[in-house]
Amino acid sequence: MIQKPRGTRDFLPEEMEARRNIESKMREAVRRFGYREVCTPEFEDLDLFTLRSGEGIIQEMYVFEDKGGRSLALRPEITAAVIRMYINEARVAPKPLRWCYFADCFRYERPQKGRYRQFWQFGAELIGADTAMADAEVIMLAAEALNATGITWDLKVGHLAFMKNLLKDLEPTGQRRVMAHLDKKDFEGLTVTLADMGKADLGESLTALVACRTLPEAFEIAGTILEKERVEQMTGILDDAGIAYSLNFGIVRGLDYYTGMVFEGFAHNLGAENQIVGGGAYRLAHLFGGDDVASAGFAIGFDRVMVSLGEVAPAKDTVVGIVCTDEGRSFALAVGRAFRAAGIRAEMDLMGRSLGAQLAHASRSADFAAVIGKREAEAGQVTLKNLHSGEQTTLDPAAAIAEVKAHGAR
Ligand code: HAM
Repeated sequence: MIQKPRGTRDFLPEEMEARRNIESKMREAVRRFGYREVCTPEFEDLDLFTLRSGEGIIQEMYVFEDKGGRSLALRPEITAAVIRMYINEARVAPKPLRWCYFADCFRYERPQKGRYRQFWQFGAELIGADTAMADAEVIMLAAEALNATGITWDLKVGHLAFMKNLLKDLEPTGQRRVMAHLDKKDFEGLTVTLADMGKADLGESLTALVACRTLPEAFEIAGTILEKERVEQMTGILDDAGIAYSLNFGIVRGLDYYTGMVFEGFAHNLGAENQIVGGGAYRLAHLFGGDDVASAGFAIGFDRVMVSLGEVAPAKDTVVGIVCTDEGRSFALAVGRAFRAAGIRAEMDLMGRSLGAQLAHASRSADFAAVIGKREAEAGQVTLKNLHSGEQTTLDPAAAIAEVKAHGAR
């Protein structure tokens, strides 16, 4: 028997219905902020991902050569692709652009609960706005989308200016090494690396910065921050908007394209893989041959949201089983069409079963049976049986539709 590839999942109808139900809540939340959906290819030129992150990222990706000898990669995230698309298709469009996506990503990681090789991100990118309000909008949007799902989670907001100011005398590679330790909260490794670089004195301020939770403290630790006013404005807007968050200047984010505001969210009831959203302000467009446009965005790990929610009851359709005899079939087809035209799920027998066997099947799979024999067909009526209560009445199709709809609304 052939099995699915490691780190991938199959979704049966119940699970897909639950997923679509939650997805639609997030879609509705971002729609109300004016974000419109975009779609990019599942695979891209490998360069799109290595240009910024270096060849090291190849270890974490599905990389292949096509028959034309091109080096391609299955997308590990969507942001780079969205910015590529912006440059290719929309660089002259009026700014800001508010775009969102719901798309699968592929990472060659060691699978565990909440960490897969194929997973879905629900994200947004705000392109062409470089203000505190833009930073704040992206955070508010992520909060709105996650809150709409009903999960409980914590939001942590930071800004890279503080860390960068402390590290300003280090070479870019040194900065990256330090940031990589901080990203993994590996303080032992940090001490070793700093000592290696002859910068042991930085250890104390870095540790203090990571632990501090207020702006005045952070300004004191990190020294003169050019973005001081911007950071204050952004947090002021979040406070005015009633967003619940804590400040955390230890957030450095794994993907190294961020330039300013950064944020992460963590679900309360998840284990090791509890980060459900990550995002921030970044600049990528100039790397791909475009203008140096400011952008900000986030991606929610949709599968982790579903794990956090646990067993979600799918939004349940009311189902009508159309049960008919040979003499009733022609009228039953018309009744089935009428039910479906009214938006009701109606299923007919495909197995050549007897009336009794059709009814038995309906009682397992449907909420109502609409029984149409010779008598009903001649009278233009259906015998509608409520399969939960056992009640049944004979009525015309319009009244049967109204009865089923009233049940769905209860
Ligand atoms: P990221 O933090 O790499 O950011 O991924 C975003 C979210 O995707 C994570 O917080 C996590 O919930 C989920 N995720 C990541 N890897 C996996 C996995 N293997 N299995 C399941 N879920 C996973 C980005 O991808 C950026 N593009 C976010 C962004 C958008 N920044 C600016 N705009």
